[in-house]
Amino acid sequence: MKTLLVCGGAGFIGSNFTRTMLQTYPDLRVVVYDKLTYAGRLENLQDVAADFAGRYAFVRGDIGDRALVEATVAEHGVDTIVNFAAETHVDRSILDPDAFIRTSCFGTYTLLEVARERGLRFHQISTDEVYGHIRAGASVETDPLAPRSPYSASKASADLLTLAYFVTYGVPVTITRGANNVGPYQYPEKVVPLFVTNALEDRPLPVYGDGQQMRDYQYVLDHCEAIDVVLRRGQLGEVYNVGTGQEIPNLEMVEIILNRLGKPRSLIHFVEDRQGHDRRYSLNVDKLSALGWTPRHTCQEAIAQTVDWYMANEWWWRPIKEGDFRAYYERQYGSRAVLGVGR
Ligand code: NAD
Ligand code: DAU
Repeated sequence: MKTLLVCGGAGFIGSNFTRTMLQTYPDLRVVVYDKLTYAGRLENLQDVAADFAGRYAFVRGDIGDRALVEATVAEHGVDTIVNFAAETHVDRSILDPDAFIRTSCFGTYTLLEVARERGLRFHQISTDEVYGHIRAGASVETDPLAPRSPYSASKASADLLTLAYFVTYGVPVTITRGANNVGPYQYPEKVVPLFVTNALEDRPLPVYGDGQQMRDYQYVLDHCEAIDVVLRRGQLGEVYNVGTGQEIPNLEMVEIILNRLGKPRSLIHFVEDRQGHDRRYSLNVDKLSALGWTPRHTCQEAIAQTVDWYMANEWWWRPIKEGDFRAYYERQYGSRAVLGVGR
């Protein structure tokens, strides 16, 4: 692993991964390849561009553009592709699935073709959502995939393509399936940054349904470390779950945010539920633990640390919320019925 192509590296997890890899490995070079959709932002990497100028490069492009991916790989001598690029918000996939399918299905196929042609190592970033919602117990990597939203179906398709390229062509692949990440630079459409920034603005927090859905909120840098471990020590052709191994109800996440900010429960607005809302995810992470990885944060610590980052970094989120995000927010929440208010 000498030169990484980090696809989707201008987004939330990809930018954290790029920074941490450059900090950890003094000889590593990273090329971020990103389309810069609404979620991809060069601000996420501005410190990286300054601190690692000689070992970092940025290319703007679509992962479905094979000629540009090939040219980038050749020009920079890439030996490993890590693919974070995707449309990632479940609610947007319900409004408009098109880009989800294009990027995760066709785009991942394109990257796999380039990996096959050039003999590159390939790592796919996947999600616990491919298992569907879990009524009891915890998902293990060999469980059948049962995605229930256009987003998770597009991610499951990418996983299947990745594994097929290992079996059919011997492309050296691995996959990680991560639980909900929180931390710096997460676009404020996702629940934790949305609720923190709404609370800072004394706006309502729109909790879907009864707020008893279960999620494993893990700290993004723990996830990044896990990806690094799998890149170095993972077995080719294998899948690894990544999470804290514990999940909490959404309402507990809301309480942590409100308590940390000293804001009232009356900001909680119970609103009409998400269509097809997955009730619970739960990951068994024993396979990854056997490689020597352990998360450094609990869900509660991860959420609290994230609250602090958004409090200290208004420069980052305020322009987003005052820009195009307003139109999206109106479309997503404007006509959603309010079913109750927190007390
Ligand atoms: P994000 O939305 O913050 O970033 C996605 C990035 O991909 C953006 O920079 C965007 O510009 C880029 N992108 C989108 N389409 C592209 C295309 N066609 N070509 C090139 N670049 C493109 O997402 P994130 O939260 O950082 O998630 C990164 C990856 O991790 C995704 O694959 C997601 O499915 C997966 N994942 C996310 C979570 C989570 O909680 N956020 C959990 C598990 C897995
Ligand atoms: O589980 C991993 C997945 O986590 C990733 O694959 C996805 O890319 C990422 O977006 C995330 O998906 P979720 O749907 O779980 O995350 P989101 O932040 O959208 O919602 C988390 C929970 O909060 C979920 O139960 C829905 C609820 N929610 C969300 C929003 C945006 C609300 O109650 N109100 C909201 O306004």
